[in-house]
Amino acid sequence: MTEVTMSIWRGDSSGGSFFDYNLERVEGEVVLDVVHRIQATLAPDLACRWNCKAGKCGSCSAEIDGKPSLMCMTRMDTLPNDKITITPMKTFPIIRDLVTDVSFNYVMARQIPPFTPGDPEPDGTYRMQQVDIDRAQEFHKCIECFLCQDVCHVIRDHEVNKLYYAGPRFFVRLASLDMHPLDTVDRRELARQHLGLGFCNITKCCTEVCPEHIKITDNAIIPLKERVVDSSYDPIAWLGRKIRRKVKYTVDQVYALAPAQVAPTALDRLPATAIDDEGKS
Ligand code: SF4
Ligand code: SF4
Ligand code: FES
Repeated sequence: MTEVTMSIWRGDSSGGSFFDYNLERVEGEVVLDVVHRIQATLAPDLACRWNCKAGKCGSCSAEIDGKPSLMCMTRMDTLPNDKITITPMKTFPIIRDLVTDVSFNYVMARQIPPFTPGDPEPDGTYRMQQVDIDRAQEFHKCIECFLCQDVCHVIRDHEVNKLYYAGPRFFVRLASLDMHPLDTVDRRELARQHLGLGFCNITKCCTEVCPEHIKITDNAIIPLKERVVDSSYDPIAWLGRKIRRKVKYTVDQVYALAPAQVAPTALDRLPATAIDDEGKS
């Protein structure tokens, strides 16, 4: 029976360090199993978050040997080293040990007006083309593990950008709403002006870590960027939309219609002193 050393970062918001735990390797285990064995035998106060142990709740996100991963979906036999490091997600504030405060994501979620369908057909039903359903299906697989948010360098290394940048998980959400044929809200200016779509430089790191294999960059961010550019800079596309398509509500109109449903934009959350005339802190 071979041994493995799990080197786990432990601490809280005031600081911490790595603690090594030596255990026997057990065939078939995932990283979360080993963390549970450590809790059961060596460190009952080790904090980690988990729920399903099936890759579906998005709770057990951490960085395993430096890579943002789900602990419950990372098999030990895919990690060849005898010493494995586990650290909490770097992009979010530490609560304790492997548990981080991901509430930044819930603030960002509230910036985005929800799905808002128009009037139904005369027979009271809604109809969509199968091709439209197929296009958005991939986006609905998101389990909100926030690994894509964790790896995204725009906020991983630049805390101040959290004021201006929603991150890849919410670009997926914006794309799925923008591509929905029954939705009536135009969120493209919100994406461009307040949620920082332009900060993304298409590095695809988010796509690489997504446990649901959502093609975040190719299928959500790039099409969303193209739509935002069309709406902002292409006069022919703008005219074509005016002629062919239903007019969509702007986000401001939605705020006016349903102020309780949606939170103010990211910039509205900033203290006035934090922003200069160009909107930068
Ligand atoms: S592709 Fe964009 S959103 Fe994804 S990690 Fe890179 S910069 Fe961030
Ligand atoms: S898009 Fe993928 S990586 Fe990002 S939160 Fe959803 S499931 Fe996780
Ligand atoms: S415990 Fe639910 S995704 Fe890992």
